[in-house]
Amino acid sequence: MATTVTRLKVNGEERTVEVDPATPLLWVIREQLELTGTKFGCGIAQCGACTVRVDGRAVRSCVTPVSSVFGQEVQTIEGLAPAKDTRHALQMAWIEHQVPQCGYCQSGQLMSAAALLDTNPDPRDEDIDRAMEGNLCRCGMYGRIKAAIKTAAKATAGVGAEGGEEANHG
Ligand code: FES
Ligand code: FES
Repeated sequence: MATTVTRLKVNGEERTVEVDPATPLLWVIREQLELTGTKFGCGIAQCGACTVRVDGRAVRSCVTPVSSVFGQEVQTIEGLAPAKDTRHALQMAWIEHQVPQCGYCQSGQLMSAAALLDTNPDPRDEDIDRAMEGNLCRCGMYGRIKAAIKTAAKATAGVGAEGGEEANHG
């Protein structure tokens, strides 16, 4: 495979990678940048485990060629908190509602939820259902996910994020 050296902006940092431009973003994130919070599930855009944000949008990194995100802002779960030693309001709400069970789907869930709240700070149930329908949870935590998104929406109407350790990694 032909590789090229290129620069990516990930979680606010410029990163240089040597990669085939057709490589899925997921593998660049996990294997080259060693940001392993983003998970591989199906590899065919059907489960949402690999969800990251590109210029704010939730995208399935397993089917996103890295060349398609050149020049755009990539955010992974490791960059969701607004600053070091803080948590995003969603991470706080996830803890409050004890959302994760096995945890495997959770970084993808959080990134989709973050994209939703950025465009719709006060989502209705149907908005949440629509935004989250592509993120599957084998443990069936859908009710808790929805409740946590509502809690985070209320919190972000006030302060946005609170201090603490990072809530999700892996
Ligand atoms: S691993 Fe990408 S959607 Fe399932
Ligand atoms: S918490 Fe186990 S798959 Fe969602």
